[in-house]
Amino acid sequence: MGKRWLFGIAMAGCVSGLLVGTPVKGQAESKAKPGDAARGKTLFVRNCAGCHGAAGEGDGYRLLGPDPANLTAPATKKKSDAELLKTIHNGKPNMPAWKRNLSESQSRDVLAYVRTLGK
Ligand code: HEC
Repeated sequence: MGKRWLFGIAMAGCVSGLLVGTPVKGQAESKAKPGDAARGKTLFVRNCAGCHGAAGEGDGYRLLGPDPANLTAPATKKKSDAELLKTIHNGKPNMPAWKRNLSESQSRDVLAYVRTLGK
């Protein structure tokens, strides 16, 4: 019983994944999966690079108050996924909250891309 339920949820996830995003070579998508950096890149360029810069170095532009974080800095790299996801969801002074515009899995995709920056 329990297992059937989980399977149902997993299938629903797959189907909605296919409807919303580009199917990633037929791979089933599960909620717990780490983000997809390739998809994250598109989202980053569109939503984040204006402030954080194309390379994530915080050089998009300067605002009054805190500057966009340099996402390649050691200070950011050593923060946990949970911490950075929280920032992406809730925003910061000078950074908009993304929870209304990015789904859970999109946030993880963006974070996966952020993790590739500065390498
Ligand atoms: C309007 C400008 C702006 C946009 C757009 C923006 N950010 Fe930011 N972001 C900032 C600023 C400013 C900070 C630093 C805030 C602070 O230090 O208080 C920040 C901080 C962060 C941090 C925290 C870094 C750390 O070390 O804690 C992450 C992660 C981050 N941004 C990711 C993103 C992602 C992903 C996007 C796109 C979905 C994005 N940001 C879009 C301005 C922006």
